[in-house]
Amino acid sequence: MNNTMKHNFTFIIKGDFCYSASKKELAARENHFLICINGICAGIFENIPMQYRHIPVTDYSGHLILPGLTDLHTHAPQYSFRGMGMDLELLDWLNTHTFPEESRYEDLAYARNAYRRFTDDMIHGPSTRACIFATRHVTATLLLMDMLEASGLITKVGKVNMDRNCPFPLCEADFNTSLSDTQLWLEASKKQKRCLPILTPRFIPSCSDPLMKGLADLQKNTGLPVQSHLSENLSEIEWVQELCPDSRFYGEAYYNYHLFGGETCPTIMAHCVHSSPEEIELLKSQNVWVAHCPQSNTNLSSGIAPVRRYLDQDLRIGLGSDIAGGTCGSIFRAMTDAIQVSKLYWRLIDTDAVPVTVEEAFWMGTAGGGTFFGKTGSFLPGWDADILVMDESRFPNTSPLTLRQRLERVIYLSEDRDILHKFVAGRQLF
Ligand code: GUN
Ligand code: FE
Repeated sequence: MNNTMKHNFTFIIKGDFCYSASKKELAARENHFLICINGICAGIFENIPMQYRHIPVTDYSGHLILPGLTDLHTHAPQYSFRGMGMDLELLDWLNTHTFPEESRYEDLAYARNAYRRFTDDMIHGPSTRACIFATRHVTATLLLMDMLEASGLITKVGKVNMDRNCPFPLCEADFNTSLSDTQLWLEASKKQKRCLPILTPRFIPSCSDPLMKGLADLQKNTGLPVQSHLSENLSEIEWVQELCPDSRFYGEAYYNYHLFGGETCPTIMAHCVHSSPEEIELLKSQNVWVAHCPQSNTNLSSGIAPVRRYLDQDLRIGLGSDIAGGTCGSIFRAMTDAIQVSKLYWRLIDTDAVPVTVEEAFWMGTAGGGTFFGKTGSFLPGWDADILVMDESRFPNTSPLTLRQRLERVIYLSEDRDILHKFVAGRQLF
């Protein structure tokens, strides 16, 4: 890496590029040049156009170069207990493992150590962007945000709101405490530039009526985005029906609180495994992003989300690791999981729901989720220069492969150690 590249987000890289031109269409450009001007991709060219000839070129010839991935749904405090309680379903898993573990984030020394590991692994993984749940604790959440701010990644982090149906001391004392803690957290996070706050009511069972109303007022006044969970598990859905008898379905409960997308409330709903046709219609009309988390949905026996329908109906959709429901933080892995569970869905549940293709899974893990952050997840002109330079030397091949074949192998085989370089909005992390 030369100094110009390190300190100036204007550069040119040469190599073999793959990116989504659209949801179904992969663009593959061998031996081309990507021009990055102030962190924004100016395009990919066979020859460097005259006006860019003064810009330094770094040669990654022979390397596959991809857009950075987006993890649209993960839980930082759950990183420490991955792979535990995987024989349980959601509500038992929350009570047995998740809530006791999250209670420990009152202790700042514990939080610092655990969040350091999470952040270090995020830096070295393939995601350049992520939407992250912290815990309900203000100080530990700010600590996580400081670490992520320094990491160079671009992220959104939520202090979790939860004032009912969870054990003391994790449960917030009442809705007023939850809202005033949220105000404190937002005030303290104003200095952040790359790690920004996102309102995070955990899910309907954890949030009282006055808390949801207070969060909706806050959302309206601040324009902040929102993330939560929706229709993940059958017992959870039944419970929400009891808690919100006036809503016809789970998503309508969020909608009635004015925390469900629309022009001024960008929203991510994780899972949507058991969404009814009415709920899907509302997700679409409100432009809510679905965070599809196939590994978590398998581990917790939640089910298989009808992703073919979401893709065909043009819903906004990206992929999430959902650590620790999911055990693997890599969105490459989420791509293969999405393809695999869609094949089971097609074979066993609905023969009309054709499996997710490599192109579609790649799109979901890049531009599909990335657009929650703006123009992120493709190399089209004007999009953010989030870049992964891959090293495929661990996957030897006997005959020359097409770029599409090389991409499929990287999706299925690569690990964090196969990422040679990573750039976020033009800034090189390593
Ligand atoms: N629903 C409410 N909280 C959680 C959580 O921590 N993980 C998952 N997978 N679902 C949830
Ligand atoms: Fe989750």
